[in-house]
Amino acid sequence: MTAVLTIDRVSRVFESGGERIAVLDGASLTVAAGEMVALKGPSGSGKSTLLLIAGALDRPDDGTVTVAGMRLFPDRHPESALRALRRRAIGFVFQKANLVPFLTAAENVELARFIDGAPRGEARVRARELLTTLGLGERLGSLPSRLSGGEQQRVAVARALANRPALILADEPTAALDGARGRQVLELLKGAAKTGVGVLVVTHDDRALDLFDRVVSIADGKIVRDGEGSAAAGRSKAVTFSDTEQS
Ligand SMILES: Nc1ncnc2c1ncn2[C@@H]1O[C@H](COP(=O)(O)OP(=O)(O)OP(=O)(O)O)[C@@H](O)[C@H]1O
Ligand SMILES: [Mg+2]
Repeated sequence: MTAVLTIDRVSRVFESGGERIAVLDGASLTVAAGEMVALKGPSGSGKSTLLLIAGALDRPDDGTVTVAGMRLFPDRHPESALRALRRRAIGFVFQKANLVPFLTAAENVELARFIDGAPRGEARVRARELLTTLGLGERLGSLPSRLSGGEQQRVAVARALANRPALILADEPTAALDGARGRQVLELLKGAAKTGVGVLVVTHDDRALDLFDRVVSIADGKIVRDGEGSAAAGRSKAVTFSDTEQS
């Protein structure tokens, strides 16, 4: 399987009050095309830092990082090349949807295509097609303020998919949603994985681990467990809290 993300023995050290803290300490992780991977671990364990490095938004101090065939570290690339990679190869989803408040749902998705240089008509078709697939066909013309939190987050997923990325990085995308709506968002990401996108999701929600092919646990900047999720094991039943270890 083709790896869309390879993080190999990555370290990241921050200085705080003269003290050096290794937030990532030799962490390794790969995500293959078509794979949906959960990243879990206690608060402060380095999950968001790892995602920023995977998204070419931060650089490690040691190790190697390759995204969609481009080696980001230790190689150096001009900021313009990194911007192009982020725009074309990576889709980001965060805890909050962060939609542009004065643009409609469709326009928010179109914007991602415009920024990548797509013609207006093509962008419009792509936005309509994605939002319809994600169950928002009736909401194309709605402003974010008229959408529920779950609907806004679905628009954010559509925006992340607009440029057909190789990799999606999602940092607690369901944290602001209730269980059912959170699961819906993860199911959309799962759908993207089924079309060949590699998906890495930071999540605290053990109830949805059945959707993941692999579950990776991080503690104190080290990967402490990297195992098959129950989706990979072919289990179709929903995983309950008692089935999985607590984060
Ligand atoms: N730019 C920075 N400068 C200094 N310290 C930082 C910086 N970014 C993160 N840290 C520290 O690194 C540690 C890991 O942070 P990170 O945000 O990666 O944790 P996390 O696993 O995402 O936690 P949470 O579950 O709370 O979101 C924390 O102790 C944080 O304070
Ligand atoms: Mg975090």
